[in-house]
Amino acid sequence: MKSAELRQAFLDFFRSKGHEVVASSPLVPGNDPTLLFTNAGMVQFKDCFLGREQRSYTRAASVQRCVRAGGKHNDLENVGYTARHHTFFEMLGNFSFGDYFKREAIHYAWEFLTQTLQLPREKLWVTVYKDDDEAAAIWVNEIGVPAERVTRLGEKSNFWSMGDTGPCGPCTEIFYDHGPEVWGGPPGTPEEDGDRYIEIWNLVFMQFDRSADGTMTPLPKPSVDTGMGLERLAAVMQHVHSNYDIDLFQNLIKAVAALAGSKDLSNPSLKVIADHIRSCAFLVTDGVVPSNEGRGYVLRRIIRRAIRHGHKLGLRQPFFHKLVAPLVKEMGAAYPELAKAEAQVTRILNQEEERFAETLDQGMHLLEEAIAGLSGHVLPGSTIFKLYDTYGFPVDLTGDIARERNLELDMDGFDREMEAQRERARAASTFGAAYGHKLEIAGKTEFTGYERISDQAKVIALYKGSDAVQQLAAGEQGMVILDHTPFYAESGGQVGDKGLLSSAGAMFEVQDTQKQGEAFGHIGVVRQGSLKVGDSVDAAVDFAARAATAAHHSATHLLHAALRQVLGEHVQQKGSLVTPERLRFDFSHFESVSREQLRRIEQLVNEQIRGNNEVLTRIMGIEDAMASGAMALFGEKYGDKVRVLSMGEFSTELCGGTHVSRTGDIGLFKIVSEGGVAAGVRRIEAVAGRRALEWVDSIEDSLEAVAAAVKGSRDVVADKVRQMIERQRKLEKELEQLKAKLASSQGSDLAGQAVEVAGIKVLAANLEGVDPKALRDTLDQLKNKLGSAAIVLAAVQGDKISLVAGVTKDLTDRLQAGKLLQEVAQQVGGKGGGRADMAQGGGTEPAKLPAALAAVSGWVAREMGA
Ligand code: SER
Repeated sequence: MKSAELRQAFLDFFRSKGHEVVASSPLVPGNDPTLLFTNAGMVQFKDCFLGREQRSYTRAASVQRCVRAGGKHNDLENVGYTARHHTFFEMLGNFSFGDYFKREAIHYAWEFLTQTLQLPREKLWVTVYKDDDEAAAIWVNEIGVPAERVTRLGEKSNFWSMGDTGPCGPCTEIFYDHGPEVWGGPPGTPEEDGDRYIEIWNLVFMQFDRSADGTMTPLPKPSVDTGMGLERLAAVMQHVHSNYDIDLFQNLIKAVAALAGSKDLSNPSLKVIADHIRSCAFLVTDGVVPSNEGRGYVLRRIIRRAIRHGHKLGLRQPFFHKLVAPLVKEMGAAYPELAKAEAQVTRILNQEEERFAETLDQGMHLLEEAIAGLSGHVLPGSTIFKLYDTYGFPVDLTGDIARERNLELDMDGFDREMEAQRERARAASTFGAAYGHKLEIAGKTEFTGYERISDQAKVIALYKGSDAVQQLAAGEQGMVILDHTPFYAESGGQVGDKGLLSSAGAMFEVQDTQKQGEAFGHIGVVRQGSLKVGDSVDAAVDFAARAATAAHHSATHLLHAALRQVLGEHVQQKGSLVTPERLRFDFSHFESVSREQLRRIEQLVNEQIRGNNEVLTRIMGIEDAMASGAMALFGEKYGDKVRVLSMGEFSTELCGGTHVSRTGDIGLFKIVSEGGVAAGVRRIEAVAGRRALEWVDSIEDSLEAVAAAVKGSRDVVADKVRQMIERQRKLEKELEQLKAKLASSQGSDLAGQAVEVAGIKVLAANLEGVDPKALRDTLDQLKNKLGSAAIVLAAVQGDKISLVAGVTKDLTDRLQAGKLLQEVAQQVGGKGGGRADMAQGGGTEPAKLPAALAAVSGWVAREMGA
């Protein structure tokens, strides 16, 4: 069955069961600024599940285009390395909005798979949520799946949520067994990540709406949301084990191969490019353009990853845009909007390719040099940063290349460089970046965000760049000034709010809020319609982000107080940054904070959180505030009336920020790092609330991963790793000795292969299984043995060539080792250099090595004037 036939069969089946067939929505969700891309079929129905929207039908089916790159469900890094991850895929789904529930959902799925598609029952396995007895009973008693093929799993695999907030619920998944010739085990076993048992269909029983603080509110009516990846299903139907072997992908892969002149269709770079052209072309179709932030940046990263893989295939001219036409041929019939946008998409991709082409070569060069000069196996943060900053290499692109060379990335170093750059940018003015200078705004905004997070307001001015305008049209960036607003404008270290302004005719996505004199500037972009001065708008702060920011801000106050208790009263705030993701607090202290002190500080803060004190704000005169012992910032100007924020007896501070209502709302506090930033100034970074839990989870995950890798339990992991390192050191030593032995025995054989040219000995050879150090040792031995000679030795590991060249001392006034090395290296895509008697370098194109080595004696003859 071809992919196109499967799409049709699915829709026909559910139409026959009373479902309305609904077209795919665009990849940019129209109703949800919190979501990067449409990542599941249910996205366009979100409000139907929540009971906020009524439609003329309660059952629907769709084939939805989806992108999972960036955001919660992110597969980008896996693409090209597995048989079934994609940035873009199509999801077949059927939905019930308070109509049918578990029983029908399961029966329909089974009927479609086993009757319409005729899949053998014994090849299907099932998982259900651990507490879902009802679903398990339907599978076993009604459908007749043997109980041993129904596995109960936890939250991680069998509870689906669209994001941090929104509809969610337990789910049941159907797996297909690709057969014993493929490695892997059934779901829930240690081998489940293999490619044998593949999840093909996820049936979600939507029951709750998760809010930002984690509360689960039951939905008005239990509902159903199912999703089945078309590509996986097609692989099953076409009897292939990799999604990349299905009809649709094979045609795209052939198109890429034709451009690159590749014969070997299994080259992973072909798959990566075939995958990426789908997401990129559809993203552009749906209005995303490459840029340096948000959705546009994700698009840019994917395009650049594709171009780099093209580079690996030898494609040095723009090629990616040429794949739009073959893609339209494959998918234009199912998605007419793609066919319509073909010319536009081709043009935009071409532009982006040209832009990147200029720096790709230079960047690759820099990277190759950095790699050739590495002594260990960690790529320094400064290199990653330089590639990112100067050459536009997204970090995951550098990561990709590093992975191919078995290198690790120094991400801490990179983060430090990034932070330093952000700091520079901040110093250069937060607002200046967009507007150049502060604007003179006639008008004043009243802030209502302490009491509420959404409000009705009036647009009193609009700006496009620094020009006041009467209206902003769809797609335009700009700044909106309101008469009053619930949006917090950046100050006191707390970042500006994000959210949405919607009027009768327009939707404006607020990406940042900044003070502009007495007015608040809502900075962002018009997503729909056009916004005019005088319009009434519904101003709604992104609640999830605000709540997360509040948790971090309140935690900062507790941290400040705890620091003074544990370290002493000399601790003064020197700087602070509060975002939805984390908090950063700089303070005066003369030495590093010990582990025990950090523990104590963390415990104190968490005790206060558990104490669940009310967070009180009072407006009072500055004198009274200081008399009450409130902490104020040295050197800060305060007005006559100040806002005093207190949390129990523990913390009292002057503060204009937004906070939680009770300390318990913070949930959890964890210190992530402590370090020095300047003489006498320390910095603590910490996370609170959901972020803190995620941080703990990530540590647990890493620990589990290490434990699994060393096949031990958590409590013995440290010992096991120590033993393994010990053992590895021993093995490395042995290996080095063996290599030296090998090189020296190859060296003795080689001496005999030297040829006579212009009266001297010339030797150019490729040594097997030898590292650069052994190469140099062998070179020295050969020089001794041959007396008067010019020698080039090479060794190949993967697609990396190491080269050394040597000229015996008596000849260095006529022959230079450095020149000789360059001569060879440039023929194999590399470079190098050194002294007159010894030089080293590398290359990247092993296929050209034999010819390059063969040319050495000719070169020597010419240099010697023979
Ligand atoms: N929303 C669920 C998923 O994406 C089922 O459609 O897996």
